[in-house]
Amino acid sequence: MRGYGEIPVFTNTSLIVPILLLAGASSAMAQDAAEAQAFFDSNCVACHTIGGGRLVGPDLHGVNTRQTREWLIDFMVDPAKVLASGDAYAQEILAASNQVPMPQLPGLDAAMAGALLDLIAEKSGTPIAAGPVEEAVPFTAADVFLGEELFVGSQAFMHGSPACISCHNVDGVGGFFGGGNLGPDLTEVFTTLNGRRPLTAWLGSPASDTMKPIFADAKMTDGEINALVAFFDAQVNGESAADRAAVAGTASASFFYSGLAFAVLILLVFAFLWRNRYTATRTPMVEASKR
Ligand code: HEC
Ligand code: HEC
Repeated sequence: MRGYGEIPVFTNTSLIVPILLLAGASSAMAQDAAEAQAFFDSNCVACHTIGGGRLVGPDLHGVNTRQTREWLIDFMVDPAKVLASGDAYAQEILAASNQVPMPQLPGLDAAMAGALLDLIAEKSGTPIAAGPVEEAVPFTAADVFLGEELFVGSQAFMHGSPACISCHNVDGVGGFFGGGNLGPDLTEVFTTLNGRRPLTAWLGSPASDTMKPIFADAKMTDGEINALVAFFDAQVNGESAADRAAVAGTASASFFYSGLAFAVLILLVFAFLWRNRYTATRTPMVEASKR
């Protein structure tokens, strides 16, 4: 952007110099823009679109008009710090994001943040195309089933991604020991990460320092991600969740009643075994006293 302002100044003095400068400046800008785009594609698309709607984080279309450039750069470089400062706007966007905070991103310094803002501003120049919203194909029971198999590792990922259960738990899945606890519990992740589209985007480019390097080399396919999202959906919205809760309820109830029945049985058995205990001691005593 800065190049455009300089054009008239230079054209008054010489023809060659400005063309060279402009060429130099614009190729540097093109490089910045390309770098910013690449950085955005690998670090931001998990949670943001520019004009494609909200994901885990807000749509960044026009974000450059929501706050000053300084504020936005400070926030991008260290979101937790701005939040901790008590900033009202930061609290507001956090609340709008289900209290899921933007993480601090490695490699995102003030210069890159500036370049990203330029990129976002440029993309925000065109209004959001209001095309028909693509209808998502509803999840099937087969999707949910495949998702669970992938989650627990009984079905391998096409490109060798590790099974989620080695680091994550989902209640009621994975038998007695459940899942690992290196990563957060994912029982309600469908809700916390804001639903189908945001969770799908997140898994397409996992925004976790632990997962990112692993999944960059072992990318999940769209079909696998779809199945996992279906599985996570079922945990909070599906019949399976209700079923499991009911089964867990009946299981604990039947455990209680079988325990009770067993105790009663034991009492009956001893009552039977000792049915003669009283008379067995008393009768001889009475007999003896008669003599
Ligand atoms: C793991 C998800 C996640 C990732 C990855 C992420 N963000 Fe965010 N971002 C959020 C959330 C959530 C918010 C709003 C809530 C908050 O953090 O307080 C946010 C807020 C923002 C805001 C302020 C938005 C507004 O409405 O004022 C900007 C700007 C921003 N992010 C830019 C970026 C850029 C650029 C990247 C990539 C370099 C990035 N974010 C990566 C989740 C993410
Ligand atoms: C090697 C361990 C590991 C494996 C394997 C792993 N994750 Fe993670 N995951 C983590 C960690 C750790 C975090 C927390 C963020 C961080 O600290 O990097 C996380 C975070 C997440 C989150 C964000 C949760 C939130 O509330 O913000 C989701 C979603 C997720 N993982 C899904 C998956 C899925 C699905 C799989 C299997 C395909 C998987 N993970 C496999 C370690 C792992």
